[in-house]
Amino acid sequence: MMKPARLLKFPPDFLWGAATSAYQIEGAWNEDGKGASIWDTFCRQPGKIYRGQTGETAVDHYHRYKEDAALMAELGLKAYRFSIAWTRVQPEGSGRVNQKGLDFYSTLIDELLQRGIQPVPTLFHYDLPQALQDAGGWPQRETALRFAEYAGLVGRALGDRVPYWITHNEPFVTAMAGYFSGEHAPGIQDPLQALRATHHLLLSHGLAVQALRAAVPESAQIGIALNLSPVHPASDEKNDQMAAAAFDAVLNRAFLEPIFLGQYPLQLVAMLGPLFPEVSQEDLTTIAQPLDFLGVNYYSRAVVRHDPNFPLIQAAQVMPPGREYSMMWEIYPEGLYELLTRVWQDYRPKRVFITENGVPVPDDLDADGQVRDERRVRYLRAHLVQTHRALEAGVPLIGYLVWSLLDNFEWALGYRMRFGLTFVDFETQQRTIKQSGRWFAGVIAQNGVEDDA
Ligand code: FCB
Repeated sequence: MMKPARLLKFPPDFLWGAATSAYQIEGAWNEDGKGASIWDTFCRQPGKIYRGQTGETAVDHYHRYKEDAALMAELGLKAYRFSIAWTRVQPEGSGRVNQKGLDFYSTLIDELLQRGIQPVPTLFHYDLPQALQDAGGWPQRETALRFAEYAGLVGRALGDRVPYWITHNEPFVTAMAGYFSGEHAPGIQDPLQALRATHHLLLSHGLAVQALRAAVPESAQIGIALNLSPVHPASDEKNDQMAAAAFDAVLNRAFLEPIFLGQYPLQLVAMLGPLFPEVSQEDLTTIAQPLDFLGVNYYSRAVVRHDPNFPLIQAAQVMPPGREYSMMWEIYPEGLYELLTRVWQDYRPKRVFITENGVPVPDDLDADGQVRDERRVRYLRAHLVQTHRALEAGVPLIGYLVWSLLDNFEWALGYRMRFGLTFVDFETQQRTIKQSGRWFAGVIAQNGVEDDA
């Protein structure tokens, strides 16, 4: 006989929500005084994006934010994470402020608050102003100073109504996909630039925390969203174990240690040798600003084997056979528990906020107009069960945000990857809440999830 499902309850003020980012949903790429970002430039380069797609229209959220806020309310969301496009606020990335850009986010925030949804803005989600890239981009220290300025001015303009701030989204991806592999804008392939970018992103985070603290009420909570994964060796061989440790140093510890311990991992510094940038104690102190929460973006684990051909870290990711997969990654829910408990034990963040979790599914409308994305429901449920386990183990979790509210522009993979709780017809822009959206609304309504055991 099947065991009846148990309802796993969450804390009373748990922040259930969904996340998006500016370039992936807004469109209106050159409206109301917006300046060009590196993504506007990158998408126009042939061969960079799946089928030559761009975010120029995306899902037209810039014009449909009211409708989208109504969708959020229909789902019962308590929080909504979005990002602010730096180029709407400062078209050239420094100096001149574009009031219309600030007004858009101000109106959005009011719309959310009216509906009882907590706004969780991220200041940077990959879309660097092109003017700053022309001056060297993140590999240049100046860019960190410009970011602090921007953070301060956004804080002064919107801080009276924003309860949670996120400085950066996934600095690992900004640095590595942008400046090392070149899969993301600005499409540079240079390890030296990638490492300099990493340090300046971290520095800019510290400076932005200081600028925000000076600009916003004391009650505002400030954090950063990191992409983190447990890293497992592909076998018990010594080589593979060393490769996993090296990969972990680059992916996880390179960010967690400076932010929480004020140092770079010794292993990382030794491994990269002369490539590692000169770093002053003062910079490290700036980076290690006290934070109110750590944002965790979790999708999967990394399984790694020794690969002498891979420069520097001699490690490469593999897809272990015999496992369950989505269109992009292995499905590995227990990794979320492993990650959350490790981060809590090793770094003691004040609070932890799951700022992204989700899965791409090749969704489409059925004959009756419904989207039956059972795979997403299963994925989300399994990850919520692990989230609950982490809560029971004492991890101070404050919320869980699904990536994403809407199907959207998935960077180099274009519109092929659908992550939404809401289906978007990219031709007509019509929104349809998927089965997973209805299911998630139920989770929120009962503040709990049914155990899948
Ligand atoms: C994360 C990004 C987000 C989206 C999801 C699928 O790495 O933060 O913009 O692309 O992955």
